[in-house]
Amino acid sequence: MNEQQNVSIIEVGPRDGLQNEKGLVTTENKLTFIKMLLDAGITSIEPTSFVHPKYVPQMGDAAALYSELIKRVDPLIYNLSCLVPNVKGYEQSQKVGVKEIAIFSAASDSFSKKNVHATVDESLANLKKVAAMAKSDGVKVRGYVSTVFGCPYEGQVDIDRVHQVCETLFNYGCYEVSLGDTIGVATPGQVQQIIPAFKKNFDLNKLAFHFHDTRGIAMANVLTAFNGGARIFDASAGGLGGCPYAPGSTGNVATEDLVYMFNSMGVNSGIDLAKLLDASLFILTALGKRSPSRLVRSLRKVEGAYCEF
Ligand code: HMG
Ligand code: MG
Repeated sequence: MNEQQNVSIIEVGPRDGLQNEKGLVTTENKLTFIKMLLDAGITSIEPTSFVHPKYVPQMGDAAALYSELIKRVDPLIYNLSCLVPNVKGYEQSQKVGVKEIAIFSAASDSFSKKNVHATVDESLANLKKVAAMAKSDGVKVRGYVSTVFGCPYEGQVDIDRVHQVCETLFNYGCYEVSLGDTIGVATPGQVQQIIPAFKKNFDLNKLAFHFHDTRGIAMANVLTAFNGGARIFDASAGGLGGCPYAPGSTGNVATEDLVYMFNSMGVNSGIDLAKLLDASLFILTALGKRSPSRLVRSLRKVEGAYCEF
């Protein structure tokens, strides 16, 4: 396989997938879910976030979950990136030995204020401190820019602002920045339009695309980004997900859908589709939910193997 034809998929299901779920998933079920995802060949995963449990109760077990996870999984073999909004969250992550964090800001003030009670500039000032602490502790840092393709409160977003925030996060030492379509408004036309400017200003191999599937065209956006040279995609097993501060937005693009599509194109993600489906069905059953992914709905297990009908 040509090296160019590989993609990296960052599994955000245990964090983005579960953060907006009302029914609390037990820590043990989350751990089983994560272990099944890793067993499916996923090497980069967001297990949790160190945010305020008052605002995101589902992530309230972050410390307990991470402490238990690293007894079962080597954090030096896998990228177990935990979302951190501020110094307090970072300090809590370090009490349990987190080796990689994801810091997050946005391209629009209104969303940022709802999400982290700070304007974009204020959030970046907070994250600067976090990134400096991480650097001195030898902790890896990934970055997010939310509302890249549109804001739930302001509508259109200034692309120059997106580039500024992205650049700031790289300057803080992020090894990769993920471009969030927080509310799932991106279109293939928009993706096609923005990629050349990103290519001009940044290394595309350090940019991930994070599409939510509110309007059912996240897969078309992934394919458009791939055709434009993108090779890193965030996705959520079973298509679960959504941000509590992005009203009306639905889950991330389903990891299964990506693996299925890339397999058909001869593009390697290193992920075993059947094992991934087992992991998704496990967490969907725990939640008592059907997957929004048509692929997941169309597959059934017959004599131990998945088939379509
Ligand atoms: P705040 O209330 O403004 O914080 O919340 P504060 O600094 O004013 O402190 C108030 C109290 O909160 C203090 O406690 C702090 O210690 C405590 P007190 O002295 O009153 O007892 N506190 C914390 N406790 C636990 N963890 C913390 C923390 N920080 C302060 N980290 C905060 C600010 C950011 C914490 C809050 O707004 C929050 O937790 N927001 C949740 C944000 C969130 O999780 N959003 C979803 C994830 S982002 C996303 O989904 C987008 C993404 O997927 C990409 C995309 O799709 O675009 C990444
Ligand atoms: Mg998201």
